[in-house]
Amino acid sequence: MGRVTKAVFPVAGMGTRFLPATKASPKEMMPIVDKPLIQYAVEEAVAAGMTEMIFVTGRNKRAIEDHFDTAYELETELKQRDNQEMLQMIRGIIPRRVSCVYIRQPKALGLGHAILCARRVVGDDPFAVVLADDLIDGEPSALQQMAAVFKKRSTSIVAVTNVPRKETRQYGIVKIDPGSAAPHRITGIVEKPAPGAAPSTLGVVGRYILTSRIFHHLLRVRPGAGGEIQLTDGIAALIREEDVLAYEFAGTRYDCGSKLGYLKANLAYALKHPEVANDLCNYLKNMDWRHPR
Ligand code: UTP
Repeated sequence: MGRVTKAVFPVAGMGTRFLPATKASPKEMMPIVDKPLIQYAVEEAVAAGMTEMIFVTGRNKRAIEDHFDTAYELETELKQRDNQEMLQMIRGIIPRRVSCVYIRQPKALGLGHAILCARRVVGDDPFAVVLADDLIDGEPSALQQMAAVFKKRSTSIVAVTNVPRKETRQYGIVKIDPGSAAPHRITGIVEKPAPGAAPSTLGVVGRYILTSRIFHHLLRVRPGAGGEIQLTDGIAALIREEDVLAYEFAGTRYDCGSKLGYLKANLAYALKHPEVANDLCNYLKNMDWRHPR
């Protein structure tokens, strides 16, 4: 049971913080420099040894399906122009041994509900969940680090990071058993607590490896505000039955679901991109930094 081969990508959210950009296309298709967020997420899963990509899509699913499908017209055009470099890049977006499955979440009823939609395809296997709007720059990647832990411990793992106490309302916050071996066992989890009520400052970010028992619990979660089924509630039930570990990954995480996080990620990745890094660096050095107001 130590190997994880399936990765679930919930991409059916409304993306309201990025309207109007997300009106007709999913936020996971927004690029960081020249590559969409969802492609970074898939590459992370592939590098961690996963071979079955399961996308839980919503009303704007076309763009994501098209991105991972063969683009015959584009390939013909690139061949005619003899642009071998681009042709190889386009063809290599998904390695041949990797398969993609698309499942529709009929209504955006929350992250827990999106994961439940993948139940039949996941079956009894352990699986990863990757939220593409949490971009994590790490070497090895966060998911590779977590897959290595799963290989040894064969139990559910949730990625966490230390967040400023004033921001606990933006996260699921975990309480850990400091007496347990690292990565520590989670003893409690609350969704978006007020800073004064938060049991710690360890916030959950969008990488999970879960055993299929999570489905049993998600099926029993009662919808909360807005009719949403929260993954946090499913995990809160799971910790009563099996060890769930809080894993503090090594790497820099960008919250690309927020405008500021998205802009920071673009800057950081552009400053590493061979095509633009030097020119951008010079531009920033010479830029007039006075506040416009
Ligand atoms: P968010 O909480 O960021 O919500 O979802 P959102 O709708 O995407 O964005 P905002 O807050 O309105 O701007 C976290 C992840 O869960 C997925 C989203 O696509 C995102 O990857 N999700 C959320 C679903 O797939 N289905 C849902 O019903 C809710």
